[in-house]
Amino acid sequence: MNVYDSEQISKGLKPLQYKMTSSPETADLIIVNTCAIREKAEQKVFSFLGRLARLKRKKPGLILGVGGCVAQQEGLNILKRVPYLDLVFGTHAIGRLPGMIERIEAKKCRIVDVEMPEGPEGIDESVFSVDTDDRDRVASFVTIMQGCDNYCTYCVVPFVRGREVSRSPEKIVGEIRGLVESGIKEVTLLGQNVNSFGKKEGLCSFSELLSLINEIDGLLRIRFTTSHPKDLSDDLIYAFKNLDKLCSHIHLPVQSGSDRVLKRMNRKYSSDYYLAKVDKLRNICSDIAITSDFIVGFPGETEDDFNETLDLIKTVQYDNIFAFKYSDRPNAPSALFRHKISEQDKKDRLIELLKLQKYYTRRSNELLVGSTQSILVEGLSKKQVKTDANSENIHQNIQWTGRTSTNKIVNFIPNNDTSHDENFSGKIINVRIEKALSHSLQGILILDSRSPIR
Ligand code: 5AD
Ligand code: SF4
Repeated sequence: MNVYDSEQISKGLKPLQYKMTSSPETADLIIVNTCAIREKAEQKVFSFLGRLARLKRKKPGLILGVGGCVAQQEGLNILKRVPYLDLVFGTHAIGRLPGMIERIEAKKCRIVDVEMPEGPEGIDESVFSVDTDDRDRVASFVTIMQGCDNYCTYCVVPFVRGREVSRSPEKIVGEIRGLVESGIKEVTLLGQNVNSFGKKEGLCSFSELLSLINEIDGLLRIRFTTSHPKDLSDDLIYAFKNLDKLCSHIHLPVQSGSDRVLKRMNRKYSSDYYLAKVDKLRNICSDIAITSDFIVGFPGETEDDFNETLDLIKTVQYDNIFAFKYSDRPNAPSALFRHKISEQDKKDRLIELLKLQKYYTRRSNELLVGSTQSILVEGLSKKQVKTDANSENIHQNIQWTGRTSTNKIVNFIPNNDTSHDENFSGKIINVRIEKALSHSLQGILILDSRSPIR
């Protein structure tokens, strides 16, 4: 979501003639887009801003802005800690950003805008315009809803992104059609809890929205994130079978395997309920990849609770997971819970959990060795781009990169029958998987790119 917001920010600044630079020293404007989800993310913001003080001293004309969730959360308070900022703008102010920058340029003033309107007014459609200059990309994010009403006790999101609100299906479909016209082949639909899409507003359901998007000519793949287990409907589970463009991957954050902890987290499901959803998903779509999020060291989490989380991982055997040490967040109710877990215990539990998952991640990759996978090619692999710059014969060792429907990264080389000049970007092709690494797969193109297996 933050990556997407950063894209919208840079898109909005193009008409003001700002262009991206990779070196902060040469920048006339620096926008720090921030994340407040965990304490560490917030600490990083302030240490990064501290490092920018030197640049601001050297170049007083430099405009320095902070946006995103930390800006929303702290508002004016940020200026107490970072007095040399020109601009603080919240999660709902991206559309107003170009106007604010123009005012700062003209009047050398300082602006704080952390207004967060509720309901449909909170959605600023102007930020969702398609960037037609961006023709080399294959995949794009698309926001379908904002905010969250779930109030998990550890989570800051409802406070910094506001109440849940969905965009209209017509606008979403219109945006995706525009993206496809500009060359996009895959969209990832974004929302904190896509399963409750449209419910409040009486729009269509999320699975109906997926069906509408599945009809868009020229679009090859659809992904989405994130799905709350409590709202995972049968309709959505069946969409994995019925919609040919919907990728075989679901990110289904469980957070903990202990019912006691889940209750205190206000997750509104039990581990048995979750496991039943996993079974159903696998019955309907046998190759579906399942990934998840975990929090270790939630206040009051005992060794037994933690062991139940390890047991759940052993039962589900995820394709991959993200796991985090619990941290208190402003306004989140669990900040006031007693029986906080020590930093050392949180660290030990995180290491143990990640070690266990490493085995399953690697195994899920190894199981694909020898199989043929259809890959949506995203471009030359990064390693390859570097080699090309220094290589005399750029056609040797050409390596492309893409993803399986199950969201695994595959780097592959073309076969001998393929023309060296062939551009595979944006095509779905078949690759035989030769080798599994910890975080990616390696393969070789086996069939003509015009006859993908799926
Ligand atoms: N501490 C640690 N992890 C958290 N997450 C959300 N809030 C916290 C917190 N206070 C994690 C959850 C969520 C992911 C995006 O971040 O696992 O799914
Ligand atoms: Fe946070 Fe829970 Fe909403 Fe996810 S569902 S954004 S964890 S409150």
